[in-house]
Amino acid sequence: MTQVHGNYIGGKWVASDSGKTFLDVNPADTSEVLGEFQLSTRDDARRAIEAAQKAQPAWGRMPAPQRGKILLKAARLIEERAPALGEILTREEGKTFPEGKGEVLRGAAVLEFFSGEGYRFTGETIPSESERVFLYTIRKPLGVVSLITPWNFPIAIPCWKLGAALIAGDAVVLKPASLTPLIAVKLVEVLAEAGLPPGVLNLVVGPGSTVGHEVVTHPAVKAISFTGSCDVGIRIQHDAAKNLTRTQLEMGGKNPTIVLEDADLDEAAEIVFLGAFLSTGHKCTATSRAIVVEPVLDAFTQRIVERTRKAKVGNGMDPAAVIGPVVDETQMNTILGFIDRAKRDGAKVLLGGSRLTGGIYDKGYFVEPTIFGRVEPNQEIAQEEVFGPVLAVIPARSFEHAIEIANGVKFGLSASLCTRNLSRAMEYVDRIEAGVIKVNQVSSGIECHAPFGGTKASSTGFREQGSVAVDFFSEPRTVYMKY
Ligand code: UN1
Repeated sequence: MTQVHGNYIGGKWVASDSGKTFLDVNPADTSEVLGEFQLSTRDDARRAIEAAQKAQPAWGRMPAPQRGKILLKAARLIEERAPALGEILTREEGKTFPEGKGEVLRGAAVLEFFSGEGYRFTGETIPSESERVFLYTIRKPLGVVSLITPWNFPIAIPCWKLGAALIAGDAVVLKPASLTPLIAVKLVEVLAEAGLPPGVLNLVVGPGSTVGHEVVTHPAVKAISFTGSCDVGIRIQHDAAKNLTRTQLEMGGKNPTIVLEDADLDEAAEIVFLGAFLSTGHKCTATSRAIVVEPVLDAFTQRIVERTRKAKVGNGMDPAAVIGPVVDETQMNTILGFIDRAKRDGAKVLLGGSRLTGGIYDKGYFVEPTIFGRVEPNQEIAQEEVFGPVLAVIPARSFEHAIEIANGVKFGLSASLCTRNLSRAMEYVDRIEAGVIKVNQVSSGIECHAPFGGTKASSTGFREQGSVAVDFFSEPRTVYMKY
């Protein structure tokens, strides 16, 4: 029997008003159902916001180091349960088990980091221009905040948004992606077990058009942190503007790795492979463009094709699989559409290019890792985010030309450069339009205690993670005290 999971509102697991549920299936084997979840309504979301409103004042008054202790306890529980949670994540989202478990441990690390921020929820003292005036700032929570999180990092991203919001003293309504609600339920269970008071964290599962819209437009919501597509992000910003609600939007990427003539080409191929194909390319930080200077274009291309050909695609629980399924049918069709149009645009298929079929592949949504060669920078496959296992190799005449191509897209999330030339590396750091800048490293993969976010159409600029993440979820007050 499939287990039915409720929403979590005011410290209780409850069914939606709608009386309707939907099924959560394994993308590697769609005959496996992970659970049944609430198809929630606007009223469910409203009740969650009201529960958060009720709980927030006491939570905000609790000393920040004490709030941190609850986060630390949750981090420890997640660590202990990492193998079981990792398996749920793999079966629900599709990424391989080492990646699933790795993501769970990352979620624990993020909560551990933010637990420490409770000891550093500080303001500043400023020398006043006047005598006998003590000028300083304190930080206050915002109140109720909404978190709208994606399916591709279904525990790490909720953890890093929650960690920052909760340590700041906000109460939260979390709307997880409908493709990955089970791991969100597990995370909420852990936080409740760690001692989070009822109402401080509420979970409402359901569509963006009802639940999402309500948690964005309700006047009691003071901030919205969202990770997902640009289209949805722009709509959120637009809807939030009516109440002057602050938004933090983490959206798409079209991230380049530039390969220069002095790079170690084996290392460069490994870096590009990992960035392009791990997690089936389902990362906004994934490498989707390898921009390679002409003298090493053929040698690099041969290496990246060979490296990718060796990678087994399969069910993420199969220890031999390096690349898992695509998350669902819609995403698979989107990816296949990009591949077809790239072929029509004249890009040359060097590897893959189709859906995988036969045997276990017929049970789920598997796409061949695909590499296009000699792609022109203005083609769709070189401009738009695919969010799948697809790489475009783009030739560049020079370092200058490579930088120009790298910056010639609307996005600016992450970027990578492979070189042994320090001057070139420094110049690239100066000129590349990206929020996360890597040298001789994979474009994806970030450390939780460093700021994360993009530039241009990738982000709104408020950084996640690191100490700075707490700024978005809190407000400074400036005190002028004459004595
Ligand atoms: C990573 O590169 O490890 O949704 C994290 C995403 C990003 C997080 C990337 N917000 O892919």
